Amino acid sequence: EDGGEVVVVSNRQPYRHEWRDGEIAVDRPTGGLTAGLDAVVRRIDGSWIAWGDGDADREVVDEDDCVAVPPDADDQYPLRRVWLTDDQVDGYYYGFSNRVLWPVCHGALTRVAEDSGAWDAYRGVNERFADAVAERTGPGDVVWLQDYHFGLVPRLLRSRLPDDVVVTQFWHIPWPGWDTFRACPHGEELLRGLLGNDLLVVHVDRYRQNFLDCVAAALPEATVDRDSGRVRHADGVTTVEAYPLGVDTERIAEHALSPAASERWDRLRSQYDLGDDVRLAVGVDRLDYTKGITERVDAVERLLERHPELRGEFTLLQVGSESRSRIPAYREVQTDVVEAVTRVNGRFRTDDWRPVVYTTDRLTDEELYTLFHNADLGVVSPIRDGMNLVAQEYVAAQAGGDGVLVLSRQAGVHDLVGDSAVSITPQDTDGFADGLYEALTMPEAERRERMAALVRRCRACDTEAWIDDVLGRVEHLRGDGVPER
Ligand code: G6P
Repeated sequence: EDGGEVVVVSNRQPYRHEWRDGEIAVDRPTGGLTAGLDAVVRRIDGSWIAWGDGDADREVVDEDDCVAVPPDADDQYPLRRVWLTDDQVDGYYYGFSNRVLWPVCHGALTRVAEDSGAWDAYRGVNERFADAVAERTGPGDVVWLQDYHFGLVPRLLRSRLPDDVVVTQFWHIPWPGWDTFRACPHGEELLRGLLGNDLLVVHVDRYRQNFLDCVAAALPEATVDRDSGRVRHADGVTTVEAYPLGVDTERIAEHALSPAASERWDRLRSQYDLGDDVRLAVGVDRLDYTKGITERVDAVERLLERHPELRGEFTLLQVGSESRSRIPAYREVQTDVVEAVTRVNGRFRTDDWRPVVYTTDRLTDEELYTLFHNADLGVVSPIRDGMNLVAQEYVAAQAGGDGVLVLSRQAGVHDLVGDSAVSITPQDTDGFADGLYEALTMPEAERRERMAALVRRCRACDTEAWIDDVLGRVEHLRGDGVPER
């Protein structure tokens, strides 16, 4: 170890190995987090630690328990997996992470369900990860933790790491206000865990303020300085910052404009029966109750009720990807979406037209960018969402087009680009339908002007800018003598 290496830690691995027809296939998981970071780790001198959840992951490890990824690339980096038992996965991933922290942070308190053992499993797995990090980390390195699966790791690292290692964490989901967070089981321990970070980063200033409020209310031993975002506590100082995560706008635009894209578009159009002249709206989401998918379908129904002239003329293509299906609330979303789509199609469909085309096909990134490029409307309507990268992908893939982004006020990305999108509140079906109508009837000049502004904003926080912000801040803190322990 010569120092200065960045060790990225996330629950999902960027590459997963699976048995397919007797052969090992390499797969990429859904969700925006890993794609963006993979590009980062390839560029910098780094390595990655994650849960090995693929059934063939163990077949490909070297003597250090690592595999070099991406497969067949020049800029490979070591990926180290942490192996978990089914019980650990149940308690840590399906339990505390996704049935407590996820709903708490998204303000869905009625969905919070803590099973006995979930917290212990979460703590135990956080310890496993802290051990794995400590093994791979040397003097001068940076540990870069991702997301809500590792709330306790930063504190656990304090006793395990050399003094000059900087520990930073990016929290990809919302941080709720104190009035919500106070309902979190083990909330205080979680806050103390997170204050093991030298630098804690969230997407937008609202979440940063919320986090500081929670610390001030819950932890009597901590001193919060709201202006600087610095929290002084028993173990030292934690700086809290907001740096919004974006997408690789340039690469997405290149894909959307590549020669192969028009052929791909023809194929997708026939695959999903999209008529030549139909006005197309696209939605792409994990099947999660926070994403507002049934609300979106309801709004399409209302739109067609109120504007019969749009029947036969407008289609929503909704792509849903299965997610966290062992949790009942997620299975419910899957059936609710199918029911809503069936209802609306049953009401309005004709022999050669459907108002909603719904698919759970796994499309490639290139296919998604092609859809975004050709869609008149990008519809992103979460009930609550930390950032939402689909909105930014839609903008990037438009690549100078004149599409309109219809965007929920409850997505973090709305804080960045809200005034150039058509803003809606997903549960307000009438207002949502009005928003869709406004987007469909907006004059071209206005569409172009808004899209140009959207592109500018998304570029300003693209992946590269985000990395520079986070790692630049880390270096800056190091210059100030952090870690201060
Ligand atoms: C969100 C989380 C990510 C997560 C992704 C997919 O974007 O912030 O950490 O990877 O959802 O969810 P999953 O549970 O399948 O990893």
